[in-house]
Amino acid sequence: MSTSSHSYPMRSGDDQHSYIHHSSYQKAGINGAEEKTRQFILEKLDLQLNSGLSTFRIADFGCSIGPNTFHVVQSIIDTVKVKHVKQNNETRLVPLEFQVFFNDQPNNDFNTLFRTLPPSSEREYFSAAAPGSFYGRVLPRNSIHIGHTSYTLHWLSKVPEHVCDKKSSAWNKNYIQCNYLIEEVIKAYKVQFIKDMDVFLDARAEELVPGGLMIVLGHCLPDGVPLYETWQGHVVDTIGDCLMDMAKSGILSEEKIELFSFPVYFPQFSELKGEIEKNGIFFIEMMESIGHPLEHMSITTDFITSMFRALLTTLIEKHFGDGVVDELFNRFAKKLSEHPFDFEMWKTQVVYYVVLKRK
Ligand SMILES: C[S@@+](CC[C@H](N)C(=O)[O-])C[C@H]1O[C@@H](n2cnc3c(N)ncnc32)[C@H](O)[C@@H]1O
Repeated sequence: MSTSSHSYPMRSGDDQHSYIHHSSYQKAGINGAEEKTRQFILEKLDLQLNSGLSTFRIADFGCSIGPNTFHVVQSIIDTVKVKHVKQNNETRLVPLEFQVFFNDQPNNDFNTLFRTLPPSSEREYFSAAAPGSFYGRVLPRNSIHIGHTSYTLHWLSKVPEHVCDKKSSAWNKNYIQCNYLIEEVIKAYKVQFIKDMDVFLDARAEELVPGGLMIVLGHCLPDGVPLYETWQGHVVDTIGDCLMDMAKSGILSEEKIELFSFPVYFPQFSELKGEIEKNGIFFIEMMESIGHPLEHMSITTDFITSMFRALLTTLIEKHFGDGVVDELFNRFAKKLSEHPFDFEMWKTQVVYYVVLKRK
């Protein structure tokens, strides 16, 4: 079973810094893939919806606190209902009920999640939490018809040990992420990513019913593009520079920064595909890289600052303690406004969209 020792949920609650208010970038990616999911379910979902199945079960892995997860599950439900009607003679339709499992780490803010569920008059599903790391089983065998996860799998189960060990050749120096600048660091992250991916896929394969679908959406690097060449990579490298500035001002110790690295790895597209194929437990029904809908829009300093603050507060506070985040993101916003981003100069990550079918 899973543990929560390396767990950095998104900024909780519903105040001005919460993920609830700063998840529209992820939402835009989800919207970009929605029609593909609809088409796939309508054309290919084959779960004998007419053979007495009365409860259709959906799980969203790494759901955070909303609202994106509510949108995703409602959209899946709407489509499954259409498919159900199409596949059956309407007069003899067995009413289908829906149950949704919201999964995230136990220290995710489930109170906010359940408090902000759509009102029961509008909600067509029974809801339950399935707390625990998705790098392990969180649901019973053969219990889920459709699993979904978005913007989650770049979070590793832990930081590879060597990258924070000053004596190791894989030490990440004062970089705070695997930005693809140090070969040994890339190797260490990749080893962890492969291990985690295998555990994730094996666990989901057990939880899904035969023929069940697992929909996976997230960010990855286009083939041949290192993270430091992307604007997303540049943002995090800039946050690292701000931490170093804070060390120079005596607010933080430089040593603490040298022992800090994100448990995050962005694989390249074909690397991700290769790992799913190597694992072999699922059929890849569809795998595409799609541009992010906001790719060509100019994103403001405020937008970037709020988004990364909502994503990283827990992680930063856990390592550096309370009281660092305000100063850090004030400095970051100032740096960005002094040297505004020329998005044309930077490459961008892509959204990968994968539909897996349990063999
Ligand atoms: C960027 S948020 C994405 C939330 C939501 N899926 C969306 O698309 O808006 C990433 C979420 O993944 C969760 N997460 C990361 N690692 C996890 C793990 N091992 N098990 C369960 N949840 C995890 C985090 O706690 C966080 O809520």
